Amino acid sequence: MATARLAGALVLCVVFMISTVPEAKAEGEPDGSGQMFDTIAASYDMLNKIISLGRDEAWRLDAIAELHMNEFLADVDPAVETVRVLDVATGTADVAIAVAASTPPHVVIDGIDPSINMLDLGREKVAAAGLRDRVTLQVAQSEMLPFEDETFDFVTVSFGVRNFRDRLKGLGEIARVLKRHSRARLVILELSEPTDGWLAPLARFFIHDIMPFVAGIISNHPKEYRYLQQSLEAFPQPHKFGEILNDAGLVMVSHRRLAPFGAGPDLFVVRKLVPMQTENAKEAQESAGIRDEL
Ligand SMILES: C[S@@+](CC[C@H](N)C(=O)[O-])C[C@H]1O[C@@H](n2cnc3c(N)ncnc32)[C@H](O)[C@@H]1O
Repeated sequence: MATARLAGALVLCVVFMISTVPEAKAEGEPDGSGQMFDTIAASYDMLNKIISLGRDEAWRLDAIAELHMNEFLADVDPAVETVRVLDVATGTADVAIAVAASTPPHVVIDGIDPSINMLDLGREKVAAAGLRDRVTLQVAQSEMLPFEDETFDFVTVSFGVRNFRDRLKGLGEIARVLKRHSRARLVILELSEPTDGWLAPLARFFIHDIMPFVAGIISNHPKEYRYLQQSLEAFPQPHKFGEILNDAGLVMVSHRRLAPFGAGPDLFVVRKLVPMQTENAKEAQESAGIRDEL
């Protein structure tokens, strides 16, 4: 039992450190410019790996699996159709690379991020993986995506929504560029302050009193981590986030936590609302049975 609790505490520690750097002006309010991530880009991947004990990669793969791309790909003729994926807040491109590595060549991925330094590192990784012809990275913000309406079959956002300057606008832009076919999906990995599960009080203790300090020391960027607690606190709980998705023209299909005891990141599976569904968005969300695996 003691070992299980210790393991749980370790998971909590890891989870809230991987939340990394909140991009903040004050009180956990993000500025959405990428500047703060430019500062810590060089140590970003290494820090994530160390503090997550490698779990960050598994979480991203869990998110990609929720796209159920293979079911869609089975119906696509590679000779006539290119399947397009957008990774918003791509950072150093881990999700973009993982999607490309696990799909056939007619799947192409665009990654956008406002941080030039994060993207430079991402481009090196894309080149090293031999994926330059399939993964394109460019500087942009979620609030103004440089793509035509209904361009993408799938969209991913991994630990990025919390950093959008204007969350509603950013999600609205994602809704705009997402196609409306029945298999089109958006998956979002994100962190919020834990309120459920028996480890929640311990998790909050880590967030409020331990993590900003520890993360600051490990990263050697204490200022950049100052807003960790505020940013997590400021991010809405899943039911409230579902309402924001609705306002942005999206609907939550499912939600679950990726680590046990309610301590891990949230994984949201989302689809686009078509006009006739808009009035019934909340009912659709409720009847979809949003899961919360604690
Ligand atoms: C915690 S990192 C996540 C990076 C990557 N997705 C991952 O899983 O490691 C958050 C990213 O959000 C980006 N970001 C900040 N403001 C943004 C905005 N307005 N639109 C899109 N991305 C933004 C940052 O530059 C940073 O690269």
